[in-house]
Amino acid sequence: MESIAVSRYEDASLALRNENLAQSLYDEGAVIMQDVLLTLHGDQHRARRTLEFRVFRRDFFRWYETEVFPRTLAETMAPYEAAGRADLIDLGYRVTMNLTADFAGIDRPARTPQETAQLLKLVMTFSEGATLVHSTRDKDAVRAEVRAALAEFDAAFLKGSIDKRKALLARFAKSEIAEDALPRDVLTVLLRNEDKLELPPEILRREMAFYLQAGSHSTANSTTHALHELLAWCEKRPQDRARLESDPLFLQRCVHESFRLHPASPVAWRRPVCPVSLAGGHRAGTEDRVVVDLHQANRDPAIFGADADVFNPHRVLPPNVPPFGLTFGTGVHSCLGRDLDGGVLPRADADPATHQLGIVPLFVRTLLAKGARLDPKEPPVRAQHTARPNWGRYPILLGR
Ligand code: HEM
Repeated sequence: MESIAVSRYEDASLALRNENLAQSLYDEGAVIMQDVLLTLHGDQHRARRTLEFRVFRRDFFRWYETEVFPRTLAETMAPYEAAGRADLIDLGYRVTMNLTADFAGIDRPARTPQETAQLLKLVMTFSEGATLVHSTRDKDAVRAEVRAALAEFDAAFLKGSIDKRKALLARFAKSEIAEDALPRDVLTVLLRNEDKLELPPEILRREMAFYLQAGSHSTANSTTHALHELLAWCEKRPQDRARLESDPLFLQRCVHESFRLHPASPVAWRRPVCPVSLAGGHRAGTEDRVVVDLHQANRDPAIFGADADVFNPHRVLPPNVPPFGLTFGTGVHSCLGRDLDGGVLPRADADPATHQLGIVPLFVRTLLAKGARLDPKEPPVRAQHTARPNWGRYPILLGR
């Protein structure tokens, strides 16, 4: 087997859009990732994505961003604000855990910090299972932990969420309730279309577990990277701190620049389903692995300029290149949560007062408005347990 690296922006973009390349990063993590949306290929993938996409519409994001998220954020941040400090990793996961659970359709009836912590612990185990290929631990031991976590998730969260939705769907079928009384989430869409999909209970369980971890890690880590870049930027240009709070489009542009530099998944792996030609004259066979290096592609000087490695929200981009590069992927597996987390790209006539900013820019804006700054006594620490360049602890002080 040959491993073929693709790291120029244009080549990476082409590889991700090549429909003869199937997902392969999660083969080893089948205990949690087998037959979930991200690992399906071809017709099966298309059918499920088309259904699930119904939940990820811009009108819904707009409603979520203005109505639901501010409440969840305020609720989750309150104890940290009262304490005047937070570890942004911990806070970020708590906020984003609720966000992804809302979209997946996993109810948290108690809505207590303990319940969030229980769900978070389960999701950490699912995530370790998904990235089993990188694990240095005994892989069978990790698999056993994932199976136990799935059983706990089923009993504590999933069963109740399914029962509630099935009861509502039955009432809807009898015209006792209107369609808009049904929850708008992935679980409801899947249960409503069970007859069109092959979804035995174990696949439905893995799909829900996948959603919880797909959205929460990426959002939490991206928020921390963005705040870090912005604090460093404002240290050199203190006049921009006020602008970040008063100019939402500038703030969003800055967060997109941070997304570009810090893709949540630094690489995507693909396996050819038939022999394929890649850019640069490479041929890849069905036994080979194509490693699409999103981190390098997003720093390609041919696209992003000589200062591609540096945070510069004023950079000029070529036409049709999004400011966040390939951070949300592209092609058939492109991220369904992109506009939810990153918002809409502003047009020249965008109205800052109504523009959909995205959850990460909103979260960062709220942190800045609450006076977020580094704690001089406790500098941030890089994560130790992963090869990914993430933060392990990110202590911040809150309050003006
Ligand atoms: C900053 C935050 C996020 C980043 C950087 C990110 C990144 C990505 C990337 C790179 C992929 C494609 C992987 C590949 O091609 O192999 C992807 C897929 C996906 N993401 Fe995200 N994601 C983020 C947030 C979210 C959120 C909040 C959700 C859900 C609420 C979500 C749901 C999904 C789903 C369902 C897929 C699979 C799509 C498919 O296979 O058809 N993501 N994401």
